[in-house]
Amino acid sequence: MEKAIVVYGSTTGNTEQMASWITEMLAGLGYVVTMKNVTDASPSELADYDLILLGSSTWGEGELQEDFEPFYEQMDGISLKGKKAAVFGPGDSSYEQFCKAVDMLEEKLRELEAVVVVEGLKVDGDVGLVKDEIRGWAKEVGEEAGGKQ
Ligand SMILES: Cc1cc2nc3c(=O)[nH]c(=O)nc-3n(C[C@H](O)[C@H](O)[C@H](O)COP(=O)(O)O)c2cc1C
Repeated sequence: MEKAIVVYGSTTGNTEQMASWITEMLAGLGYVVTMKNVTDASPSELADYDLILLGSSTWGEGELQEDFEPFYEQMDGISLKGKKAAVFGPGDSSYEQFCKAVDMLEEKLRELEAVVVVEGLKVDGDVGLVKDEIRGWAKEVGEEAGGKQ
C-alpha cells in the first residue's frame, strides 16, 4: 500500500483543519496516512513515504508559520528525488504576500527534486467554507500520485 505523510504547521488551527480533511480523503483513497504536526516531524523521515503533503499558513509579511521554519531550514541537504508531493495552506488575500508559504514550500520541494503532482492549494479566509474544495483537491492529489484503488 502507498504511504503518505501530511506535515502541517498551524498557529490558530486552520492549517491543522485542512490537514485533517486531506488526511481523511487520502485514507479513503487507500493510502496509509500519517498526519504530523511539524513540531513532531523531521525532514529526514519524508523519504520513507511515497507521497508527501506539506501545509503551512503564512504569517508576518509572507513568512512560513513559525513552527515550520526550522523544518524548512533542515530540508536543505535531503534528496526527495522522484517523490510525489503537494503543498497546501490558508491565508488572507488582504495581505500583500497571499499564501506565500505555499509557494516557498513548493519551490523547496522542486529544489529537492520532488515531483509536485498538483498545484498548491491556497485558501483565502475561512477554511470551513471550502471543505469540499479542500477534499476535492486532496482527491486529485491522491489520484495523480497513483494511489487510486
Ligand atoms: C499577523 C498576521 C499576519 C498574517 N500574514 C499573512 C500573509 O502575509 N499572507 C497571508 O496570506 N495570510 C496572512 N495571515 C493570515 C493567516 O495566514 C491566516 O489567518 C491563516 O488561516 C492562519 O492559519 P493557521 O491557524 O493554521 O496558522 C496573517 C495573519 C495574521 C494574524
